[in-house]
Amino acid sequence: MGASNSSEKSAKTMNWDNLGFGLTPTDYMFVMKTSGDGCFTEGRLTRYKSIDISPSAGIFNYGQGLFEGAKAYRRADGHIQLFRIEENARRMKMGADRLCMPCPSIAQFTDAVKKTVLANRHWVPPAGKGSLYLRPLLFGSGPVLGIGPAPEYSFVIFASPIGNWYKAGASAMNLLVDRNVSRAAPGGCGGIKSITNYAPVFEVVKKAKAQGYADVLFLDATTGKNIEEVSSCNIFIVKNNVLSTPATQGTILPGITRRSIIEIATDFGYKVEEREVPLEHALDADEVFCSGTAVGITHVASITYQEKKVEYKTGEGTMSDKLRIALTGIQTGSAQDKKGWTVQLD
Ligand SMILES: Cc1ncc(COP(=O)(O)O)c(C=O)c1O
Repeated sequence: MGASNSSEKSAKTMNWDNLGFGLTPTDYMFVMKTSGDGCFTEGRLTRYKSIDISPSAGIFNYGQGLFEGAKAYRRADGHIQLFRIEENARRMKMGADRLCMPCPSIAQFTDAVKKTVLANRHWVPPAGKGSLYLRPLLFGSGPVLGIGPAPEYSFVIFASPIGNWYKAGASAMNLLVDRNVSRAAPGGCGGIKSITNYAPVFEVVKKAKAQGYADVLFLDATTGKNIEEVSSCNIFIVKNNVLSTPATQGTILPGITRRSIIEIATDFGYKVEEREVPLEHALDADEVFCSGTAVGITHVASITYQEKKVEYKTGEGTMSDKLRIALTGIQTGSAQDKKGWTVQLD
């Protein structure tokens, strides 16, 4: 299905220079439901619209839901590409197993993402201006009253153009450590992209933002001594040219950007450690940065803990910047992809 003339018109009226991080609805979404045997069989593109769903759906009552986040980039030659989309499919499968949900296969997931991007191709911003953010959802859509898995599931993908987070000199984050709220505990769901991981930190993040911080840095729930991650991104520290990041042991999300950075940094010859990272090590680091699909690699300008603010090196010449340039080069097609991480769609 191609994009309609109306889509071309509205995409044409977009001011690509002013793209932020809000939702700009696009023309098409992808919808697939489980059939009688509980499996996902065939989905289809429909116009972007509200979904008709029962108030007794599993997602509303018991939070049986996952989301993913990925981006389609327009290269300088005009072609559109995706970055490591099979990894999003794999992560959704991991989450679905944990939440007792059936899941589209890797092929079904990637095929649906490709169809959604191509149907909304006019909404992929010009090279360098941003990307088309893709939001795959998997949730219990069937009615259920007794606590337990829903009888039917839906897989939906919608898309929205968004701007680049990184703006030279202007985007470094100031983070606040809050010891009072834990994001995830051992044995819980911090390692999957469960919808239930996000609202519980809204309040603490909102308060931090009201004080001028970009986000909250969460500590481990058991000892309160080690850094874990930020509300929607992973964290790295650099000390004496060694890159360290908290190991994925079920309480932080195994970020696709995180994994890619580890590989790129290793290729560059840096020592990379996945380990417990005590807060003291972060406060004593030379550089700190966050990683994620939305933020890419974003410098951390400071961490504030118990009223004490520690500042870090940011900008040109840092390891963070070198890694950022290498990663975004591959993602946007401005650098050669020797890793086979990207796929051209058109
Ligand atoms: C809690 C959390 N941590 C980390 C990340 C970064 O993951 P990725 O690099 O796959 O976007 C995300 C975003 O998906 C997230 O929501």
